[in-house]
Amino acid sequence: IEECRKLLTAEIKTFPDWPEKGVNFKDVQSILFNPELALITSHYLKELLPKQGANNFLFNKILCFDARGFLFGFDLAKASKTPMILARKPGKLPGEVITQSFQKEYGLDEIQVQAGLINPGDKVLIHDDLLATGGTAGAAAEIILKCGAEIAGFNFIMDLSFLPGRKVLQKYVDNDKIKALLEF
Ligand code: PRP
Repeated sequence: IEECRKLLTAEIKTFPDWPEKGVNFKDVQSILFNPELALITSHYLKELLPKQGANNFLFNKILCFDARGFLFGFDLAKASKTPMILARKPGKLPGEVITQSFQKEYGLDEIQVQAGLINPGDKVLIHDDLLATGGTAGAAAEIILKCGAEIAGFNFIMDLSFLPGRKVLQKYVDNDKIKALLEF
């Protein structure tokens, strides 16, 4: 995993001051453009999934974010054989939806999940490409709690550890349940 971390850290491109001044954007495109790197990323993200023993996963659903959370989230859902839930930007989902608004690194935003997918008793793992302020992942945590379910943990490719994301998520789970392949 350390080799993977070194490789990814060297390969992930940073765009300074995008989409706003002061934000250093870490682009997952660099991973997708390199199939070998994408396979390695997928493999090690799976290693970070909460489990007991070899294949007993400690969650029964996985919630992933629009848009870059979908890329590797689907791999994780297949590997763990758990249903995948799409958390989407407003207005994208048909039927009844649950909406949660939140503060983002750059502006206010909302996410939506279709009603009925998360139920009491569920243990839901949250996956996204990047943890920054924790606004997005925190909003997902609120939706899970609203549905009467449990948060099994968080799984990210990158954690921008100079931002307060991890602190925000520690309101919901213990620190060891907040996993990221890379810290910047
Ligand atoms: C980025 C990233 C995370 C979120 C993290 O998404 O992919 O979803 O920001 O930031 P936070 O921890 O401060 O909430 P973005 O809004 O750029 O959407 P995209 O994936 O659709 O491009």
